[in-house]
Amino acid sequence: MTRLIITGGEALSGEVRVSGAKNSALPILAATLLTEDKVTLNNVPHLNDITTMMELTGGLGTRFLIDEHMGIEVDASKIIGFKAPYDLVKTMRASVLVLGPLLARFGEAEVSLPGGCAIGSRPVDLHLRGIEALGAQVILEDGYIRARVNDRLKGADIRIEKVSVTGTENLMMAAVLAKGTTIIRNAAKEPEIIDLANFLNILGAEIKDAGTETIIIEGVDRLHGGNYSIMPDRIEAGTYLAAAACTRGKIKLKKAAPDTMTAILDKFEKTGAHINVDKDSIELDMRGKRPKAVDICTAPYPAFPTDMQAQFMAMNCIAEGTGTITETIFENRFMHVFEMQRMGANIEVKDNTAVCQGIDLLTGVPVMATDLRASASLVIAGLVAEGQTIVDRIYHIDRGYECIEEKLALLGAKIRREPY
Ligand code: EPZ
Repeated sequence: MTRLIITGGEALSGEVRVSGAKNSALPILAATLLTEDKVTLNNVPHLNDITTMMELTGGLGTRFLIDEHMGIEVDASKIIGFKAPYDLVKTMRASVLVLGPLLARFGEAEVSLPGGCAIGSRPVDLHLRGIEALGAQVILEDGYIRARVNDRLKGADIRIEKVSVTGTENLMMAAVLAKGTTIIRNAAKEPEIIDLANFLNILGAEIKDAGTETIIIEGVDRLHGGNYSIMPDRIEAGTYLAAAACTRGKIKLKKAAPDTMTAILDKFEKTGAHINVDKDSIELDMRGKRPKAVDICTAPYPAFPTDMQAQFMAMNCIAEGTGTITETIFENRFMHVFEMQRMGANIEVKDNTAVCQGIDLLTGVPVMATDLRASASLVIAGLVAEGQTIVDRIYHIDRGYECIEEKLALLGAKIRREPY
């Protein structure tokens, strides 16, 4: 096991490069199952979740080659199995994303039910209803989703009851090889959906209006190979900006995608941050000032993302004034609150709303990470706390943040990883 040791009080400054987006690379890696031709992916982040997805598709027969530019050549010409086993799915819910591609290309898939996780029950009913609408027979038994289709999936007009990011992605991937036209209504509009559609269209798919609430897909008989570069990670970028804002610093992010972060950047400006953006860079400057508290209500894109809620909670803990944070996506995404209260934060939670009264200084104590974004928020809290903060169970962090301690140390943070 390893943990992070952080000594607070340093204002972050300098430049870091934003990595490729985890939540785009995961569906795109699953989508490589759709073609027998070789695909090369660039800007894939080096994260535990990415390794898990490669282990999962590798176990089905996919072969990988890492080139000299750290690009990944994927060869799914010899798929020998259609089963996503529980021991992999339980470590990463996004494994369910192999369901659509396997069904579309091979007519069968057996995927362990992911089960819940720290932030909520995380059902997959919307995924299953969607593939049934495309003609799949779905049986749930022994904790597995067993799906098959006799001939070929058939295009359908599908309305997803509740906006679901991976639900939309699974149905897009199932539909690209279906016979006929598919319409996905009430689709998620996240930038990662557009990235997946752009990738699939490079392979010969015919997807229109991804990024809007109605996506239209003309099924094709097969996909060919291609090259693609994963979009920048908007949540990783927002996390570093929050660290800079909390520590009253000034940083510049390179290889970023500011046009996918409007709601996040607007909120940073409300804290008093001075934001300058270029096509692929973002600069945040607090000019040494304490952030002002802000009110947040999470909702599907283009609203403020749930994946940035914990990071802004850390900021509200030390901000000037009182900020209210309402979580509308997941039923249990305030686990970081209890750890922050142990650091002295003044937070009151009622139902899905947390009211946070900013205090001057948090106190560094040993804390425990519970989920990916909560653990990032505890690192941010440690950067502004007085004394030393020890963040335990940081395997959560390594799922979604590439070399977090190296990048933060580059920005002047006093942070190190140590085994124990
Ligand atoms: C994706 O999860 C992201 N993961 C999550 O990021 C992100 O928090 C979430 O979207 C919301 O933006 C990936 O893209 C790999 P949903 P996903 O389906 O697709 C309910 C991170 O930190 N729902 O959009 O699983 C669900 O319970 C992770 O990087 C159903 O009821 O989320 C939730 O309340 C955490 N039935 C809401 O919909 C379903 O079949 C939105 O979930 C599916 C979802």
